[in-house]
Order: sequence, then structure tokens, then C-alpha cells
Amino acid sequence: MRSSVLPLHWIGGIDDGYLEMLDQRKLPDREVWLVMSTAEDVAKGIENMVVRGAPAIGIAAAYGVAIATRNAVEGGATSILETVTPKLERFTETRPTAVNLTWALDRMQEALENHGSESPSKMVECAFEEAEAIFEEDREHNLAMAREGADLFDNDSKVLTHCNTGGLATGGFGTALGVIRAIDDQGDLEHVWIDETRPYLQGSRLTAWECIQDNLPATLITDNMAAHFMSRGEVDAVVVGADRVAANGDVANKIGTYNLAVLARAHDIPFYVAAPVSTIDLDTLSGDDIPIEERSEEEVTHVGDTSIAPDEVSAAHPAFDVTPAEYVTAIVTERGVVEPPYKEGLAWIAEEYQ
Ligand code: MRU
Repeated sequence: MRSSVLPLHWIGGIDDGYLEMLDQRKLPDREVWLVMSTAEDVAKGIENMVVRGAPAIGIAAAYGVAIATRNAVEGGATSILETVTPKLERFTETRPTAVNLTWALDRMQEALENHGSESPSKMVECAFEEAEAIFEEDREHNLAMAREGADLFDNDSKVLTHCNTGGLATGGFGTALGVIRAIDDQGDLEHVWIDETRPYLQGSRLTAWECIQDNLPATLITDNMAAHFMSRGEVDAVVVGADRVAANGDVANKIGTYNLAVLARAHDIPFYVAAPVSTIDLDTLSGDDIPIEERSEEEVTHVGDTSIAPDEVSAAHPAFDVTPAEYVTAIVTERGVVEPPYKEGLAWIAEEYQ
């Protein structure tokens, strides 16, 4: 399978290396890589959307914890765990909806606790090994998920997607965009419709950029055009990612996803969610319990630095919505495709991760 762009990478060794993040706010105009040398740098990078996408922010936070561990040791901390724990809390607060973030932080905490009695340098080594494992496993899971998802498609498929779920949002290859890449690899992709994804424009800025790099046959549309193309038979399926899948199959994903699910149902089009098992949260019973991040009004009233609304108007900006499970045709994971009823299927597939 083809490779894809990565949202971040580690440069150098454990002792002298540093994390570089591709500044996704600057895409598609410029490719700017930012150096992150403290946990706070990484936390701000997540908060301010330098890196975004559920799996990618989990990976970034994992490296942030590893950096915090190294910096604690270099700073001569008497208890590494006590010094690093507040950083874990700081990362948890950066973006509340994507469960991959807390999932990765839990893994890092467990790794540190398991090696708490070892030498400081060994703890640093273990922290970096765990962060690297989270990164690499995500890419492997995406490749497996892509194969599972592509099996659902055959000849000349026309697929609509929302937000950015590609290499930029993950450890590489992507979730929903990974499935779309795999459909193309098996020769069955006729067309991708890319929702621009107002207000942050992850579709037009990031997914369109990835599709061009990969030579995928893609067309950018504004979010309000989906029904038009569905009604004309131009969409065979919708494939999206997820930030959190509740135990009952309700799916939190980028704002506007729920609209698409309702439209897909109205047009009798399958609505697929592609998400690694790390996105399934069995502790969250339904979508009602998923915290929805509220972002700034300015991201709605402005495009970049340009105002597109009167100064006096107030704006709302929930960054995610919840699609009820009844609208979801199937959830594609690296361990297989889950179909309704979701409660049993998700519990079974996520078991090992609890
Ligand atoms: O606000 P973002 O850009 O982090 O939102 C990203 C999404 O909603 C994606 O669809 C989701 O994280 C799944 S990506 C693998």
C-alpha cells in the first residue's frame, strides 16, 4: 500500500532529539514544521490545532509525556512520576471530545508506573518506546482498517467524506481517508467528494491537499451541496472517521457529520464510520455523555484573518456533533466491521483495550 504524509516525527536520539510537528494551520499554502521541546509546547500545539485529528493528538500527547519524562530527569526531579503527572492532566484538558487522547495518556501513565522502580534513564527510554509504539500501531491499525473497509466496496464507487481523516490526522494512511485510499488501490474508486467542512475547513485545506498528493479523483464541495449530489445518484456511500464511539454505537465526529448521516438515510445510501478500536469508549454509554468541545466564535465569523460576518453578531461553534447509532450502517475497525446491534459488537471488539 502507498505511504502518506505524517503529522509529526521524532528527530534524533532520545537524549538529544526533538519532536517536529507539521503546522496544519498553514496548510495547504505552506509546509511549516515546528519544533516542540517541552510538554507545554506539545499541549499548546494540540490546543491550537497545529496537530489535530483524534489519533494524531493521542500520538502527540504520548510524545509530550515522553518529553516531560526526559525533561524531569534532566532537571534532577526527585520523583519522576510526581513531576510528570500534572502534565498528563494538562494534556487531558487540551481537547475533550476525542477519546484517543485520554486512551494514549492512560497508556503512557501505565508504562511509567510499570517502570517506576527502575533507573531514571530506563524510565525515559520506556516512555519513548511507548510513544513510538502508539505511533506505529496506529499506522498498522489504519492499514488493516483500510483493507476491512475497502472490502465493502466494488466497481466504480463514488464516496463522500467529511473533515480530514488522512495521514495528517493519524499515525499515517488515515481512517476514513485510509479506506478511500484502499478502495482506490483495489481499482474500485471512481470519485471522492470532499466536504469543505465549515468552519475550520479541514476538508478543503487538508483532505483536498492529501487527495492531490495521492492523485485521487476528488472534487471539493461545500457542505450544503451533499444532498444535491446524493439526489443525483452521484454518491454511493459516505465514509467518515470518529473522535469517540460510545458503547451503544453513537458516534461523535466533526460538526456536520450528523447532517450527512441523515441525508444518507434519506437517500438510502450507506453511512460508514472508520475508527480504530482506540476510538471506542465503552465507559461512555451513549452520545449524550460525550463532551462536545466548544471552539471560538471567531473561527465561525472569520475565514483566516478575514471577517465574513458583522462584528456585533454572536456565533456558536460546537466542534463536533453526535450521530445516533441508528444512522450508522457499520463501523469499520482494524479488527473487523461491526454492524448493528452495536452494544454487543463493540463490546466484543474492544474487549482487549479495556
Ligand atoms: O477538530 P479536528 O480537526 O481534530 O477533528 C477531526 C475529526 O473530526 C476527524 O474526523 C476525527 O478525528 C477522525 S480522524 C482520524
